[in-house]
Amino acid sequence: MIERTVPLLTGRVAVVTGAAGGLGAAICARLADHGCTVVLGYHRSEQAARQLAESLPEGAHFCVRMPVTDSAALREAARQIGERTGRVDVLVNCAGTTQFVPHDDLDGLDDTLIDTILATNIRGPFAAIRALRPWLEASGDALVVNISSIAARTAMGSNVMYCASKAALDNMTASLARALAPSIRVLSVSPGLIDTEFVRSLDVQWRDTQAQATALGRLATPDEVADAVLAAATFLRFTTGVALPVDGGRPLA
Ligand SMILES: NC(=O)c1ccc[n+]([C@@H]2O[C@H](COP(=O)([O-])OP(=O)(O)OC[C@H]3O[C@@H](n4cnc5c(N)ncnc54)[C@H](OP(=O)(O)O)[C@@H]3O)[C@@H](O)[C@H]2O)c1
Repeated sequence: MIERTVPLLTGRVAVVTGAAGGLGAAICARLADHGCTVVLGYHRSEQAARQLAESLPEGAHFCVRMPVTDSAALREAARQIGERTGRVDVLVNCAGTTQFVPHDDLDGLDDTLIDTILATNIRGPFAAIRALRPWLEASGDALVVNISSIAARTAMGSNVMYCASKAALDNMTASLARALAPSIRVLSVSPGLIDTEFVRSLDVQWRDTQAQATALGRLATPDEVADAVLAAATFLRFTTGVALPVDGGRPLA
């Protein structure tokens, strides 16, 4: 049997937005474990991002303020990152936001919340790609991963606008994969419910119902979603413009 190890990403630079979140932290760790220098983008969680950077395997990892709803701040972040690293090979758009609003409670989903969700979950990834595009193009072999959600396909999720924002993100993934090829591949990674601290704080019965409705009988771990990002950066060399599900077969129910 031929043994294949995951190719190393040594010498490559990955930028992760929402780096200090439950999923972002696992993605940063996976990429660093495989040799990447990781730039940890944070918004409010500067302290947590700094602690995470220190916990990563040895490397020139560092933190940068990347509020994804502020395009000027993203341009400044891109300038700082380019100055320090001289390259960007991978961008993971992991920053995202939502709130639970029942789908039939149209008044509960007010305009302020709608604007926040859309600005963060769809305009944010676009603005991050736009800001980092010169560096990604210069890499010549770059990858953008947009962290989407199963909600894009199933329309089941924390609220109507969250589901719509992730569907829009998948559509943008396809448009940009076409527009930025061949130098930049663009993929969505689409998790089902992930067993993060936040999800563990939710109603246990609801969480168990979700796990039972999943063909594989449990929620995803953050590491399993991080593995999909790693796979996109390593083995899946000829894949672009699609959404990779990491959902245990939840849509089969
Ligand atoms: N958890 C799940 O079950 C699940 C399932 C499917 C998809 N997802 C997706 O996975 C991604 C990460 O979610 P998570 O579970 O790790 O959530 P989380 O722990 O709440 O992390 C969210 C992250 O987004 C960042 N963020 C929010 N608003 C931002 C803004 N305006 N600018 C920059 N960063 C901002 C936060 O940064 P700061 O803390 O620095 O402010 C935080 O690091 C999201 O895109 C989410 O939609 C999650």
